Order: sequence, then structure tokens, then C-alpha cells
Amino acid sequence: MSIRQILHFPDPRLRRQANPVLQVNDSIRRLLDDMAETMYQAPGIGLAAIQINEPWRIIVIDISPTRDQLQVFINPEILSREGEQELEEGCLSVPGIYEPVTRARRIRVRALNRDGEVIEFEAEDLLATCIQHEIDHLDGKVFVDYLSRLKQTRIRKKLEKRGREQGPKSPTSEYAIGHESTAAAAGRKHLKI
Ligand code: NI
Repeated sequence: MSIRQILHFPDPRLRRQANPVLQVNDSIRRLLDDMAETMYQAPGIGLAAIQINEPWRIIVIDISPTRDQLQVFINPEILSREGEQELEEGCLSVPGIYEPVTRARRIRVRALNRDGEVIEFEAEDLLATCIQHEIDHLDGKVFVDYLSRLKQTRIRKKLEKRGREQGPKSPTSEYAIGHESTAAAAGRKHLKI
């Protein structure tokens, strides 16, 4: 397993459409392990493969306060949506920015698990937001796309400036911006998805 570099907005590689996984094999499982390790180390509560420059439809999530309930979803699809909720979101690819986003409160999801088996389930509240946020990544979207043009421009400028100040990105660059405790990452106040 290894910790991988997380791409930061407005990196154009975050805009790619991720490819469906045709076969869940050992190389996909190795990628899942790297994604989990990278997410826990960041720390965040969700990560899409595209965020570490791997254009596959794979997401990992752990919203548990104890950080030991890893969920992995391969080729996730939303079958239905119900209700609305607004949560303040953040993103490991948009460090230090937190803004409210309105999404469905309850969703029905189909995906493959780590063994390549089809799973179908309902998700609500925080998990529903996380899954919707991550699936957006797979379609080349980031949560700032939901904000006003003005806010998007401000965020882009801020992060471009930071990127220039920090020079070439390293896997530890997140820490330079401000390391938050694991508890905060898992808590509802600062969601880094
Ligand atoms: Ni994100």
C-alpha cells in the first residue's frame, strides 16, 4: 500500500470522466488499498480514484467516528433520489474550503464490492451526501461547481495562489495548508470528502 498524491482544484485532470471497471482484479484491489490509505492519512471521509489521478469509477468512504468502517464502491450508480438536505461540504481536492451544498437526502445505490459482487442499498443523511459527492468526482465534477460564479472564481484564485506559493505538490502538501484532527475529519463540521 502507498499514500498517493491528491490532485487539487483547479487541476484539469479532476475534470475527466472516469471509466467503468470491467473486472475487479488484484490490481483494482491494490488501487482500493492505496485509496483507503490516502483517505485515512489526509484525513478525509471519502475519496474518488480520479482524485489520485486514476480515472476509474471507484470510491472509498468511511464516515465512522472510529475510522474503521471502510466502504468501497466500484461502478456506483444512483438508482433513485428522494428529499433534500443541505450539508456543509469540503473536499480533499479543494483544501480549506467549506460550503453548503444541497443534495438528495436519501438515495438508492447499486455498485460492485471488493469481490466484484453486485450490491444494492439505501443511503441517507451524511452517507447519501458522501456518495453523491464522490460520484460527481467520477463524472468530472467538484462541489464548487454548485456555488455561485463569484465564489467559484474566488476559490480558484485562492487555490492557484497557494499552489504557486507551495511549488510542486508533494503528498504532504495537505499538511502545509492545515492539518485537521481525525476526529474533525470524521465529524460533521468539516467534511473532507
Ligand atoms: Ni471531494
